[in-house]
Amino acid sequence: MNAVVHIHDLSFAPFLSQSTIQTRIKEIALQLDAQYAGKDPVFLAVLNGAFMFASDLFKCLQCQPELSFVKVSSYMGTQSTGRVDELIGLQTRLQNRHVVVIEDILDTGVTMDKIFTLLQSEQPASIAICTLLMKPSSYKGKHQPQFVGFEIEDRFVVGYGLDYKERGRELPAVYQLIQ
Ligand code: XMP
Ligand code: MG
Repeated sequence: MNAVVHIHDLSFAPFLSQSTIQTRIKEIALQLDAQYAGKDPVFLAVLNGAFMFASDLFKCLQCQPELSFVKVSSYMGTQSTGRVDELIGLQTRLQNRHVVVIEDILDTGVTMDKIFTLLQSEQPASIAICTLLMKPSSYKGKHQPQFVGFEIEDRFVVGYGLDYKERGRELPAVYQLIQ
């Protein structure tokens, strides 16, 4: 965990350790259980980035959620393009259901705004956002997340599901770009 990792042309330093992440996930799971027990919630994890967070989070939940994975495309390289095409993989009817969107990171908020709009058209009872990471200084989204693992500064991060040009997702911890 102490070592710098090299991905393509960039170098990344350790930022959030495995144990730091796992401890925080248990806290978030308790918050989610408190809010959603008995409400038959649907948790929608956004692929690819949220796969590892979702997997670890889901193992800690007691509220017996329905779990599903959806996919959007919006991001390339180290800069958000702000382009989101569509939500793929939604197979459950969300009408009158309590929906929790699980994301890896909120940056500008463009992606989440689009996801939110797409989900609202399904007329769910509620939509909440749960994200492992958030960059508050760049977030311009219309909807604030209710569940946030870590607020971080506006630096590019990889690992724990997050990628740099499709590499680094397998790292069990989060690393920050060395500038
Ligand atoms: P927006 O700007 O729409 O971006 O909130 C959200 C999506 O952009 C990706 N993203 C990152 N991916 N390291 C990454 O590996 C980062 O620092 C980073 N910032 C944004 C991510 O896919 C997220 O879903
Ligand atoms: Mg992503």
